[in-house]
Amino acid sequence: MMRFAHKSSLAVRRAAFRRAAIRSTAMTEESESVHVPVLADEIVALFGRVLAGLEGGLVVDATMGAGGHTALLLEHFPDIRVLACDQDPEILAIAAERLTGFGRRVELHQCRLTELSRLLRKLRVPPPVGLLMDLGASSLQLDRPVRGFSFLYDGPLDMRMDPGRERTAADIVNTWDEVDLADLFFHEGGERASRRIASAIVLARRQAPFLRTGAFAELVARTVGNAAGGRIHPATRVFQALRRAVNEEGEELSAGLETAELALAEGGLLAVISFHSGEDGVVKRFLAEGGRAGRWEVLTKKPVRPGPGEVRANSRARSSRLRAARRRHGNGEADQDRPAEERRS
Ligand SMILES: C[S@@+](CC[C@H](N)C(=O)[O-])C[C@H]1O[C@@H](n2cnc3c(N)ncnc32)[C@H](O)[C@@H]1O
Repeated sequence: MMRFAHKSSLAVRRAAFRRAAIRSTAMTEESESVHVPVLADEIVALFGRVLAGLEGGLVVDATMGAGGHTALLLEHFPDIRVLACDQDPEILAIAAERLTGFGRRVELHQCRLTELSRLLRKLRVPPPVGLLMDLGASSLQLDRPVRGFSFLYDGPLDMRMDPGRERTAADIVNTWDEVDLADLFFHEGGERASRRIASAIVLARRQAPFLRTGAFAELVARTVGNAAGGRIHPATRVFQALRRAVNEEGEELSAGLETAELALAEGGLLAVISFHSGEDGVVKRFLAEGGRAGRWEVLTKKPVRPGPGEVRANSRARSSRLRAARRRHGNGEADQDRPAEERRS
């Protein structure tokens, strides 16, 4: 993967960015990217702790990606089955190939977190003993220029994980008004130069709409200059905010947490890996509140972070945070037909 290295001068960084952008156009669409599952040891240890008291059962990997965590769980716990979901059909196809060796122990579905509750009811599965959400995008999405997630590769300004979604990043960039764009970059990306960037976008799109990641990233980089102090690419925060809006990641996470609470068996494990401080805050508050109300036993007072060895080996693990909890009052299958409020104890 091409990386935006730690360089001291803005000019050098800009030149590096331009070189990266030029190289990217020469990349084949089928880049050789792999997705390395983050916090793998910690996930196996957590599931081991919870599954030890149970005789197998169903685990839901709600954001399966390329199937790294799914494969790990199936390898380590021979008594479980995994219902593995992802909203991205391309990723599902890759995972399907990777997981064929596990036969009927794994079942794959294209499904969003907002659809998971319905899917579980439709399949009439027993209450799961575990549910994992490893949020955000997969390297297989980020590193494919044609998916339009990356400021390092030139591609269509798209960013949809589920191609069935109607709104692309280009739609947002070219149609939202200046205040809404600024709010998005500030609240979802933590971008402090949000107003300046929004104003530059609105001015520039009068000449021509933004259709490519390369041109858009260049405009952001030109506008913010060295604001990030060279630690990250100047367009990082804006791209993250756009990706979150395109894929409605806030709403999706809330639905995933709610589904875990409604569906998990008594003693079942919820494990959530997030890469965004706002997202981690949502998980933290959800579990703290549920803990106080007796619905969850929180297993991670502080988020579990990757060790230096993992960060060295996989830079994308850097911002990962794992939180986990055990469901105190399980929900039987019959329970799943009752309204959420009634099921809350
Ligand atoms: C970080 S990757 C997961 C990687 C996986 N754990 C592994 O080890 O290979 C996140 C995956 O979640 C999927 N995803 C993100 N948000 C989702 C949502 N709301 N519903 C379903 N899948 C989602 C993405 O398409 C992506 O493939």
